[in-house]
Amino acid sequence: MKQPPLLLLLLLLLLLPFLLSTINAATAATPTLSPAPPSTETPSSLDPKQIRALQSLNIPTARDPCLQPSPHNATICDTSKPFRRLVSLHLSNCSSDLSLSSTALKSLSSLHSLSFTDCRASPIRFPSDLSLSLTSFSCIHSLRRLTGLWLSRFVNLTDLTVSNTPINTRGLYVILGNMHKLKTLTISHANLSGSFPRHMHLNLTHVDLSNNKLKGKIPTSLTLLEDLEFLNLSSNGLNGVIPTEFGDLISLKNVSLASNSFSGSIPDSMSAIPGLVHVDLSNNQLNGTVPNFFSELKELKVLNLENNQLHGVLPFNASFIKRLDVLKLGGNGNLCYNHSSLSSKMKLGIAPCDKHGLPISPPPSKESSSSRDSESESSDYDDDSGSADDTSEKKERHHGPNRVVLGVAIGLSSIVFLIVFLVLLSKWCA
Ligand SMILES: *[C@@H]1O[C@H](CO)[C@@H](O)[C@H](O)[C@H]1NC(C)=O
Ligand SMILES: *[C@@H]1O[C@H](CO)[C@@H](O)[C@H](O)[C@H]1NC(C)=O
Ligand SMILES: *[C@@H]1O[C@H](CO)[C@@H](O)[C@H](O)[C@H]1NC(C)=O
Ligand SMILES: *[C@@H]1O[C@H](CO)[C@@H](O)[C@H](O)[C@H]1NC(C)=O
Ligand SMILES: *[C@@H]1O[C@H](CO)[C@@H](O)[C@H](O)[C@H]1NC(C)=O
Ligand SMILES: *[C@@H]1O[C@H](CO)[C@@H](O)[C@H](O)[C@H]1NC(C)=O
Ligand SMILES: *[C@@H]1O[C@H](CO)[C@@H](O)[C@H](O)[C@H]1NC(C)=O
Ligand SMILES: *[C@@H]1O[C@H](CO)[C@@H](O)[C@H](O)[C@H]1NC(C)=O
Ligand SMILES: *[C@@H]1O[C@H](CO)[C@@H](O)[C@H](O)[C@H]1NC(C)=O
Ligand SMILES: *[C@@H]1O[C@H](CO)[C@@H](O)[C@H](O)[C@H]1NC(C)=O
Repeated sequence: MKQPPLLLLLLLLLLLPFLLSTINAATAATPTLSPAPPSTETPSSLDPKQIRALQSLNIPTARDPCLQPSPHNATICDTSKPFRRLVSLHLSNCSSDLSLSSTALKSLSSLHSLSFTDCRASPIRFPSDLSLSLTSFSCIHSLRRLTGLWLSRFVNLTDLTVSNTPINTRGLYVILGNMHKLKTLTISHANLSGSFPRHMHLNLTHVDLSNNKLKGKIPTSLTLLEDLEFLNLSSNGLNGVIPTEFGDLISLKNVSLASNSFSGSIPDSMSAIPGLVHVDLSNNQLNGTVPNFFSELKELKVLNLENNQLHGVLPFNASFIKRLDVLKLGGNGNLCYNHSSLSSKMKLGIAPCDKHGLPISPPPSKESSSSRDSESESSDYDDDSGSADDTSEKKERHHGPNRVVLGVAIGLSSIVFLIVFLVLLSKWCA
């Protein structure tokens, strides 16, 4: 009669490793919360003048605005004594009757960062102490309407963002003329007109001027920006060829020249930009052939060349195409692919070539010219020539499910084994 508890113990012992590993896996999946660092500084409170300014801007001050994190990250203070002072202020979702007063702004000249999001107050002239103190200014769908001159007074800015707010100005040069420290510039959906300034600041790393009314050609001043990593000029009225000097932008990672009127061919000099990740040249009038160098760019993930006038045989092989997240080629009537090296299942959005390198009509249907996503359509490649060199990424993806299946299998088989063992044992004992 002493056998059953013994057997139960044995069973538990055998199952223990399996149970433990399950528990481990479950706990590893939930992030561990690190304890907040102990606060060492002696608390001091915000400058009373600045408290009054915050109240006039409808920012609640019942709770100390210097306590972090502040609601909506609206306020950040420095540690000065006897009173702390605001270094960052974010006004968002303001009530429609909010008005900025000179008195309030005068007392806020300690601010380095000021941002407005969905805050349709009328812009007033900023006191010069505040204008000079700001290194970061952001206005997203706020302040109704700005002028270039108004913005140009923030001469110490390193970051400027204006989007979904119209700017009335003779040109970008008015705004940027004295901002010699600017690193990131976003002026997007801002009805900005005129052409590019003849001088741009060499330290710019990020330029987004998308969705405006800029005209003219890409100037040399832009191609001198050796540190530029991000350039978005999409949806403007720019024209001319993409200059050979474009290849001098050696730090570039993401670039969009989409939806302008650029013509001529894609310059071979772009092959000198080693880190390109995202290239969007869609919706222009680019002609010539698709250059082969794109397949040499090790980091490339997104290539959009659709709706241009590119022609000839697509120079890419299946393993390169599979490596990309997005490849769009549709809307180039004379571009085709070699069906002896690429499968029609790749849905490239272009027709296969005949033996002269011209597209076989009829052109592909509209649907198939949409983006192809290598993740969801990876099974389409199972039968084509490039499937041998499966990417390591895909192997990684199969890793997860396999481990679970293995665990379950081990668990189940050990239970079956135990049952058989117990049955045998009980028969043997009886
Ligand atoms: C506040 O800022 C921190 C760090 O920048 C961020 O992690 C957090 O999500 C922000 N909180 C809110 C409510 O925006
Ligand atoms: C903005 O404020 C209105 C009311 O004042 C509120 O209904 C809305 O949820 C707020 N939106 C955000 C994003 O805070
Ligand atoms: C900002 O620029 C002005 C004039 O160019 C300069 O005098 C001042 O020291 C700069 N820095 C700050 C923090 O105001
Ligand atoms: C945009 O700019 C044009 C002039 O270039 C002007 O006529 C128009 O009113 C502006 N639109 C807005 C919304 O400011
Ligand atoms: C660019 O930044 C570097 C330091 O990051 C600085 O030494 C240099 O003077 C800056 N150049 C310009 C034109 O502002
Ligand atoms: C450029 O800006 C447009 C609209 O502002 C956006 O849709 C697009 O994704 C951006 N492109 C890149 C490469 O960031
Ligand atoms: C490409 O376009 C340019 C400028 O529009 C034109 O001069 C050139 O002849 C075109 N080349 C081809 C091959 O169509
Ligand atoms: C650059 O492009 C890649 C690929 O599309 C994207 O994941 C990344 O967020 C982009 N970077 C910026 C700064 O937009
Ligand atoms: C595909 O093209 C790339 C770049 O041109 C090359 O390095 C690679 O060896 C090619 N792969 C196959 C399977 O031909
Ligand atoms: C297509 O590829 C095959 C072999 O890969 C080659 O013999 C043929 O010439 C190519 N056709 C065209 C039109 O480039």
